[in-house]
Amino acid sequence: MKQILIIQGGGRSMGNTAQLINCFQKGAQEKGHCVETISLLKTEVKGCLGCNACRYGKPCVQKDSFHEIIPRIQGADCIVLASPLYFWTISSKLKAFIERFYCLAEEDENPPLGRYEKYPVKDCALLMTSADNYFWTFEQAVSYYQFTFVNYMGFHDKGMLLAGGCGDTNGRPGIDKTEHLKKAYKFGRQLYSD
Ligand SMILES: Cc1cc2nc3c(=O)[nH]c(=O)nc-3n(C[C@H](O)[C@H](O)[C@H](O)COP(=O)(O)O)c2cc1C
Repeated sequence: MKQILIIQGGGRSMGNTAQLINCFQKGAQEKGHCVETISLLKTEVKGCLGCNACRYGKPCVQKDSFHEIIPRIQGADCIVLASPLYFWTISSKLKAFIERFYCLAEEDENPPLGRYEKYPVKDCALLMTSADNYFWTFEQAVSYYQFTFVNYMGFHDKGMLLAGGCGDTNGRPGIDKTEHLKKAYKFGRQLYSD
């Protein structure tokens, strides 16, 4: 059994992203995994201030809920990032959450080229929804995820579900008219079965 922590970076209540997460969560829970979802719409996480207090042994100076999320990050086997596509990348709330990993870094005596510190290494996955569905729709979001979580922090990518063509936010969520919810359920079930 694995501990899976889903970070929801935004989206409407019962919108495309929330529905995608629910199906993924259902699949993973049916396989016996323990899944917790934290919505950054309800739980405030501000961006890093770059004050570097954390580099001098002090807790992060930001007064927000990230402090309560830290033990959940530490206890998780897999962190799943979920977001609607906003202006061709992840939401600002999810970006702010990722910035705060700065205060989780530890000194690394022998870092590899291009990395300066050690991060808590976990598995990770990406769930996203969008209106458009071109071959390049998720390019920036995927690039950011791979650069930051996988290449830089060293997380192990367990996969991505890029749910394009869900309709824009002018209308009702359209993800139920696609195959994405089925795929999310399957993704959750298969996350740890080889
Ligand atoms: C501020 C904003 C920016 C958006 N930017 C894009 C975009 O760049 N590309 C795209 O395909 N869809 C874009 N969309 C549409 C959403 O990504 C899409 O409707 C998503 O599924 C909404 O998720 P939700 O139903 O969980 O709220 C944008 C929507 C909003 C509100």
